[in-house]
Amino acid sequence: MRIGVLGTGNMADALATHWVRAGHEVTIGGRDTRRAERLATRIGGGAKPAGLRAAAAAAAPGARVVKAFNLCHEDVWRMRPPVFDARPLAVPVCGDDETALVRVRELVRDVGCEPVAGGGLERAGLLEATAALFIALWVGEGADAQAIAPPLAYAAGPSHSGTKGGMGADA
Ligand SMILES: NC(=O)c1ccc[n+]([C@@H]2O[C@H](COP(=O)([O-])OP(=O)(O)OC[C@H]3O[C@@H](n4cnc5c(N)ncnc54)[C@H](OP(=O)(O)O)[C@@H]3O)[C@@H](O)[C@H]2O)c1
Repeated sequence: MRIGVLGTGNMADALATHWVRAGHEVTIGGRDTRRAERLATRIGGGAKPAGLRAAAAAAAPGARVVKAFNLCHEDVWRMRPPVFDARPLAVPVCGDDETALVRVRELVRDVGCEPVAGGGLERAGLLEATAALFIALWVGEGADAQAIAPPLAYAAGPSHSGTKGGMGADA
């Protein structure tokens, strides 16, 4: 796949490194081309530096937008792979274009994660809001954001879980 990364910061470094290793043709586009050169050199593997416009033109004429990778810290994306309690990190992906979604799911797997259908692009704002909530829990409260959702089997309540338990289920 030909990938144009717009930006030369932390996320560009973390994700482009995986994608170069996975064999993709990556162009690092920066408004400061020297930073793009430095990052491309550090990543290696044939990553090329470019300006923002050139990186977009290489990879995205008639671009289709998919939202993903916004819920975790850059250092989580640097993990090889991001696996917690023996489960690969699940990555919600929002988009309207199936062809683009197929490609982004591949990029998620290249990072060592499992893609999760997050719905259409109209839900991208919800992903941003989720990130804001998680960060507030982690940083503000020191709370484990993972702990705020029940297991899937309980998503519709204990009575749908196939187990007995919960409030009054045995009554
Ligand atoms: N870091 C994380 O853990 C994390 C996690 C999830 C999502 N995100 C999101 O991912 C995005 C990038 O985060 P980051 O941590 O990689 O940020 P970063 O290290 O600060 O890098 C930001 C990059 O964007 C470029 N940039 C900023 N404003 C620009 C503009 N107006 N026009 C062109 N380029 C511009 C910067 O260019 P210069 O180098 O020239 O300044 C830099 O290359 C942000 O939207 C952030 O919210 C970050």
